[in-house]
Amino acid sequence: MNDDWLFHYGELQQQPRKISKKALALGGYTAPLPNELGSRLPISEGGRNFLKLIAGGNETNGLKALTDTDLTSKLDDSWKKIDIPHDWQRDEPYVEDVNKAMTGSKPDSIGYYRKTFQLPKDDSDIFKTVINFEGVMGITDLWFNGAYLGRHNSGYSAFSYDISEMAHYGSEGTNVILLKVDKTSGSEGWWYEGAGLYRTVWLEQEASISLNRASAYIYTKKLTTSYAELGLECMVENNSENTQIIAPKIILDGQTMIQFEPQSINSLSSYTFKKSIKVTSPKLWSPENPQMYQAAFIIPNDEIDKKFGIRTFEYTTEGFFLNGTKYQLRGVCEHQDFAGVGIALNQDIVDYKVKLMKKMGVNAWRSTHHFASPELLQACDKYGVILINENRLLESTPWRINDLERAVKASRMHPSLAFWSIANEELSGNTAVGSRIAAKLVRTIKKYDFEHLIISAELLTPSGELNADYLENLDVLGVNYPEAEVMGPSAKRIKQRYPDLPMMSTENASYFSTRGVYQDNLEKSQCNNLGSYFSMVLPGIRKKGDPGLGGTAHPERTLQYMKENPYMGGVFLWTAFDYYGEPAPFGWPAISSQFGIADLCGFPKDYYYYYQANWTNKPMVHVMPSWNKKQIEIDDKGMTNVRAFSNAAELELFINHQSFGKQLVKDGQVNWHVQYQSGSLVVKAYQNNQEVASDSQYSNMELKNITCDKLFEGTTTNLYKISAFDDNDHLLSSANNEIKIQVENGRIIGVGNGNPIDHSLSGKTSVKLFNGLAMIIVSKTNESEPDINLKLIKF
Ligand code: GAL
Repeated sequence: MNDDWLFHYGELQQQPRKISKKALALGGYTAPLPNELGSRLPISEGGRNFLKLIAGGNETNGLKALTDTDLTSKLDDSWKKIDIPHDWQRDEPYVEDVNKAMTGSKPDSIGYYRKTFQLPKDDSDIFKTVINFEGVMGITDLWFNGAYLGRHNSGYSAFSYDISEMAHYGSEGTNVILLKVDKTSGSEGWWYEGAGLYRTVWLEQEASISLNRASAYIYTKKLTTSYAELGLECMVENNSENTQIIAPKIILDGQTMIQFEPQSINSLSSYTFKKSIKVTSPKLWSPENPQMYQAAFIIPNDEIDKKFGIRTFEYTTEGFFLNGTKYQLRGVCEHQDFAGVGIALNQDIVDYKVKLMKKMGVNAWRSTHHFASPELLQACDKYGVILINENRLLESTPWRINDLERAVKASRMHPSLAFWSIANEELSGNTAVGSRIAAKLVRTIKKYDFEHLIISAELLTPSGELNADYLENLDVLGVNYPEAEVMGPSAKRIKQRYPDLPMMSTENASYFSTRGVYQDNLEKSQCNNLGSYFSMVLPGIRKKGDPGLGGTAHPERTLQYMKENPYMGGVFLWTAFDYYGEPAPFGWPAISSQFGIADLCGFPKDYYYYYQANWTNKPMVHVMPSWNKKQIEIDDKGMTNVRAFSNAAELELFINHQSFGKQLVKDGQVNWHVQYQSGSLVVKAYQNNQEVASDSQYSNMELKNITCDKLFEGTTTNLYKISAFDDNDHLLSSANNEIKIQVENGRIIGVGNGNPIDHSLSGKTSVKLFNGLAMIIVSKTNESEPDINLKLIKF
């Protein structure tokens, strides 16, 4: 259902009504239009007669008078064809408004989506037709075939409507779905949230005797050295007129058949089949080896296919255990967005993001501060990343509870899911009301999920006080920024006060840096990668020793803390990528955050390599800063700092081929203070005296060449890196030129460059380089490879 949606930006002249005096009679855009197949509403002969009677023989006037139905609506040019996923805010110009800075400096607006579709005449046994929305950002009102369906409040949760009876089948005509998405009523996040139909829409049809999709569930009950015990469940719904005897089966990996005992199920009732089995010598799922099993749940006329993994998660006062073995979590936190496309992330873009972090050594991911999308769950399963799935708010309103329940059912069987986080830094956490609400959330999760750990990411007081009732709800207390000096010794105090309480780091670092930048610059909103003098807590450029310099905590301090406190499980770095909104430590014109280890496009910043040096074994070295005089800090004696990250034993620095000797690598890095000389900066890495890797920076010459490299080949989308090179074929890290792009066999869906003050919109045909690099995201329009032509626009 992702194709052929029309989008209208802004409020409609005549807003659709929600109630009417007669059934299915809302008309307007909510029902088939005069030029669409089928009638505006089904009217019987008796109904026509009635309409005539009340309007002097004129049926049309009767309908108008009785229902106030708009009979003449037409879609004009303001309705544009769009592709899903869609984020309309990416096309809206940025606005300078201090109140909108946190959410990405975009206006608040309203949009409508409309789609028509045909359903074949119901000749098979179709009992139920359900339309599913995986996520719409904004408060969403929905209409279907002339009736108001209802409202969905959160942009981070999936929802469905049963349209079985109201749908038009075969010659009955067109089906119409209309959505009003309102982003003017406040936002759920303090980050860029986007707007619109940004996740998949799909239709589900069920026979009268069917398997309930969400109920099909396999989980690991127990794992020993020789076997795994699995719990198996599935619910059969009998909506037929007769009692049925059903015996579902599950086929594992197309080979092993598991048969449930036959069960008699009365008409209009359901039965949940349950069973335990033992799998000997199971192949286990882990980030290092993400092995999955395929399960087909089968009854006559229905089959549901799902994947699962065999693994166990435990957490003690010692830390985290995966499959019974102590395991260090090397995690990142991440919102859902990306350069150019905003929140309109398809599977390809999510895969690109997850793979890039895996390459850095990441094995865990916290979906902050909202439920993980189906695409993220899938990527984590496939590439091997342990997931924290986070509930949006510590609230027990009926709709939030429904959202949570649905997310639990949809996520629980994913091998990657290890933790449910019930909240992040809630003001009402650790209060009496918060405790009651937390208890309700935990009950909701535990009702449907039998194996995952419950945590909460908490704000701490320096004195380490907690509410004992609140703690009762948690398997593990999540602590945000325990390593940060600005937080004081709170985590330590809690550990002393509650020695039996398992604790983990749920958010760390918040280190800000701008890719390719080695000077702090307020005007350009840029932070030095060698350590910024902007502070997390104080305005402007500060001095050494001031609190919060460079962010909440530096990466070195963060990993040191992780080493010294293994009971904290590991880290969850804030954040993997820069994201739109929350532009700390700046305001306008900055429109994106700078906490990312990679920029908005996923181009690594220097500290990506610091983590890689500490977390991976394949020999690598990375040297910083750039070697252009204008881009770096040189003191009045001509001295400057050089830093390299590596997982090798020793590094040797060469400036213009002159060696500075070998140095032992400590904590993944070596630092030098050297006299600046333009030319070449080369670092060689050695293991057992053998050179295993090298990296270099060069003082740049003139721009000579621009290249376009495919970074990622997806199913529907490719990501390309544009790079500038100089006369010596070295990356021109100072290039900020504009490039015109022409694409054949493809469509640009986003451009980006990682510059926090870049205000370009989606779908542009030009992009500016930022420190030598830019990205274009191209949706493939046919089978052939997109053909990309670049033209430099000189200034
Ligand atoms: C945390 C918060 C995140 C983000 C971060 C910035 O306290 O959970 O959402 O705002 O600070 O440092």
